[in-house]
Amino acid sequence: MTARIIDGTAIGKAIREELKAEVAALRSRGVVPGLTVVLVGDDPASHVYVRMKGKAADELGMKSETVRLPADTPEVDLLALLDKLNADRAVHGILVQLPLPGHMDSSKVLLRMKPEKDVDGFHPVNVGKLVIGDPSGFRPCTPAGVQELLVRSGADPSGKHVVVVGRSLIVGRPVANILMQKAPGANATVTVAHTGTRDLAGITRQGEILVVAAGRPEVVTGDMIRPGAVVIDVGVNRVADAAAKNGHRLVGDVNFRQAVEVASMITPVPGGVGPLTIALLMRNTVQAARQAS
Ligand code: GUN
Repeated sequence: MTARIIDGTAIGKAIREELKAEVAALRSRGVVPGLTVVLVGDDPASHVYVRMKGKAADELGMKSETVRLPADTPEVDLLALLDKLNADRAVHGILVQLPLPGHMDSSKVLLRMKPEKDVDGFHPVNVGKLVIGDPSGFRPCTPAGVQELLVRSGADPSGKHVVVVGRSLIVGRPVANILMQKAPGANATVTVAHTGTRDLAGITRQGEILVVAAGRPEVVTGDMIRPGAVVIDVGVNRVADAAAKNGHRLVGDVNFRQAVEVASMITPVPGGVGPLTIALLMRNTVQAARQAS
């Protein structure tokens, strides 16, 4: 079997197209959805992501601003900036790009944001709203994107056994929470595997849908996948490649070459989950603007 490739770029574009009408409707009422992205330091990958987020917001007719701060910015200055953004009525969504430099306490920073503006969905209030199923909260963008990829590819998780590899606060835990809810596009039986899991391959092979967010390049090999499974690879890892022009290439957490022979559908890296994260960030910002107005 050769798997069908799930085209995240096209699905992300479709979601952004759907948002255009809602942005236009808000603008006609004098509300321009505003997103401010804060980037501390000079991590090259973060700079790329932040540029893409700003571009997507501009294309939708939203107001986007990026605040770039040096890596040695004192934590109190970042907290003061968040206070200012919290009070600014033109800013509906705030995103602090992670990871932050080592001298900063990211949970303290995330707590400082007003939950109503936390379009990343990382504030404990939004985490709680996700767990209890309150739709006024913001769902983290990457996990919500995984759900969209599944539903829009015809792989509705309802009734299926979904195995999630990884228990991070950004992906593993929220994706499990989203997919197990009693709701359309969810309603799955979810198993979460992690670094403490015994017989990982025995667990992953049970997944009719396998969501991999392990943070380690190509840890899921073809023999760990149930034949015919739908594989969503959330990983983005830069690995050295002497044959590549820039000396490296991007790989996921799944060995794509092996997996494509076993799965029925699979996301590529890049071009799978990544574009969805941005599309869902736009959706959350529109939701923030709608709820604030
Ligand atoms: N860094 C990697 N992924 C994310 C994300 O979804 N949000 C933020 N703020 N930073 C990230």
